[in-house]
Amino acid sequence: MPKQIDTILTNIGQLLTMESSGPRAGSAMQDLHVIEDAVVGIHDQRIVFAGKKGSEAGYEAENMIDCGGRLVTPGLVDPHTHLVFGGSREKELNLKLQGISYLDILAQGGGILSTVKETKAASEEELIEKGLFHLGRMLSYGITTAEVKSGYGLDKETELKQLAAAKKLQDRQPIDLVTTFMGAHAIPPEDRDSPDEFLNRMIALLPEIKEKQLAQFADIFTETGVFTVSQSRRYLKKAAEAGFGLKIHADEIDPLGGAELAAELHAVSADHLVGASDEGIQQLAASGTIAVLLPGTTFYLGKHTYARAREMIDAGVRVSLATDFNPGSSPTENLQLIMSIAALHLKMTAEEIWHAVTVNAAYAIGKGEEAGQLKAGRSADLVIWEAPNYMYIPYHYGVNHVHRVIKDGKTVVTREGTALG
Ligand code: NIG
Ligand code: FE
Repeated sequence: MPKQIDTILTNIGQLLTMESSGPRAGSAMQDLHVIEDAVVGIHDQRIVFAGKKGSEAGYEAENMIDCGGRLVTPGLVDPHTHLVFGGSREKELNLKLQGISYLDILAQGGGILSTVKETKAASEEELIEKGLFHLGRMLSYGITTAEVKSGYGLDKETELKQLAAAKKLQDRQPIDLVTTFMGAHAIPPEDRDSPDEFLNRMIALLPEIKEKQLAQFADIFTETGVFTVSQSRRYLKKAAEAGFGLKIHADEIDPLGGAELAAELHAVSADHLVGASDEGIQQLAASGTIAVLLPGTTFYLGKHTYARAREMIDAGVRVSLATDFNPGSSPTENLQLIMSIAALHLKMTAEEIWHAVTVNAAYAIGKGEEAGQLKAGRSADLVIWEAPNYMYIPYHYGVNHVHRVIKDGKTVVTREGTALG
């Protein structure tokens, strides 16, 4: 008697299971296992088998999905977003064209600080509604797991409101969310002359956030005009003592030594790293800290110097990619576009890119044992792509290649094309 399961996907042209015993470092990122002519079985929201045609022998399902020779991969993981915020900042685009820099806009009370005003003014429900809209778009692009930061409150009430909104979003849509407290995202204008006191107030929030299980990670913007390396060290050490995993916005614009700090504190990830030094790169490789690169941000800030992904991979760093979705420096939910920018500007190969948006991205947010790989027993989070092979996604840029998204075994997005056929 064949065993009855919920769903069998057949006729998969290429299957990437991304199976890996841990995050991939350096040259192991190139080592992509592609299964041609494959099948996947799903039961009770989980993968039963994922492999070569024939693996379905002995199973039967009412729901048979013919993938028509398409590519199938794990759902994408976006390990760095600032998803919960009020308002938008389209007016800054014109300022940028006039040559006013991101840090100058911030120093004038705009940028992050203008989003802080709008986030303070929004109710928790408004933040949830807006978050739902953006998460829906992320899901439509194939993202099934994502990280979400606070940091547009900079005061107790609003930081907690953002984190509470993020937590409630988990129950109102299918993407798995991991939350990060980023109270140290900017210095409010009224605290300009006493950043350490402001930092103390953010440090004081750590125990309550931990106790209410509102965030798993803590993050800080280590940057010129924001927090110094020594202030960042102080904050992150307190966060580690309070039980948080550590993340750093490190060397995004100026090379301050954020990469070295991330390695010293064994942060789970160091993010941005455009200005990371040679020494910083070596130290990240040695500490196993995952480099989360955000080339969409570099592109959108109009910079010409990108993070040195090639040097990082050659040095043995574990590299991941994310959208950095936020209203200022990277207003996009499209991780597929980031994959194209990574190919063109970070000079990453398609094989490295797929590791960076699945297995490594999952490990960068503490989800490595749950997301980013298709194997028996794991959640059935996968994407059927309107593409014949894995190289096609970074190649054909700027559009959405999703054909179908399956989250926990259920179809949550279908895109069948237009009537023009
Ligand atoms: O990752 N660098 C700091 N934070 C965000 C930008 C936030 C914003 O501009 O609103 C980033 O680029
Ligand atoms: Fe960011």
